[in-house]
Amino acid sequence: MNIFKTLTLVTLGSSLLLAVSPKEVDHLESIVKIGNKSSTLLIKTLAQNMQKKMKSGGTLHALDFCSNQAYSLTQEVNQKLRGVSVKRVSVKYRSPDNIPSQKERAILESLQSLKNSNVILPKYVIQKVDTNTYKYYKPLIINKKACLKCHGDIKNVALKHEIANRYPLDSATGYKMGDLRGAIIVTIEKSIK
Ligand code: HEC
Repeated sequence: MNIFKTLTLVTLGSSLLLAVSPKEVDHLESIVKIGNKSSTLLIKTLAQNMQKKMKSGGTLHALDFCSNQAYSLTQEVNQKLRGVSVKRVSVKYRSPDNIPSQKERAILESLQSLKNSNVILPKYVIQKVDTNTYKYYKPLIINKKACLKCHGDIKNVALKHEIANRYPLDSATGYKMGDLRGAIIVTIEKSIK
């Protein structure tokens, strides 16, 4: 029985692969690699800096870092990556710098709707935008208690006040552990050679 199952899977797998040319498979693999690398670079850069500020001066200090430097650090990461751009977006955004486009919003909403149906979200999804452009979306989950300090139900009055002051349009609070917070989007321009 197991052998039968395996055989069916192998046949299914190869017929799926046949639908896409080997060149395209290689191409998609390289898109995924670039997406993984670029999103990791951004997350690491932001997380390391944030942790340092949290340790040295607490949540308010870290907030100051986020609002003053998260965007410019993102731009720095972009300068390191050639032909690729990376950003963070959220439907419930805090900073207007991180508003998704209409089309990006549709993908974020689809991810949210999958999540609402108890689907375990994939590490990434790839969208083909046009012949040479791809978007790699990495869902960002509230996966650390520290996130809740600034995105949960904020109890610290001074922090609440400071967030309201800096972000009058803030809608990035009220999250719980495991919630979908948004996504990193890596836009990749790469033609098949
Ligand atoms: C010290 C407060 C603080 C903590 C802790 C914090 N954030 Fe944020 N976050 C902010 C601020 C301020 C912004 C808006 C400025 C920016 O970073 O672009 C933001 C923005 C974001 C954005 C971009 C979308 C938007 O709403 O503007 C995402 C995604 C995000 N945070 C996820 C997280 C996750 C996941 C964690 C935990 C690993 C976390 N944050 C921890 C303060 C914080």
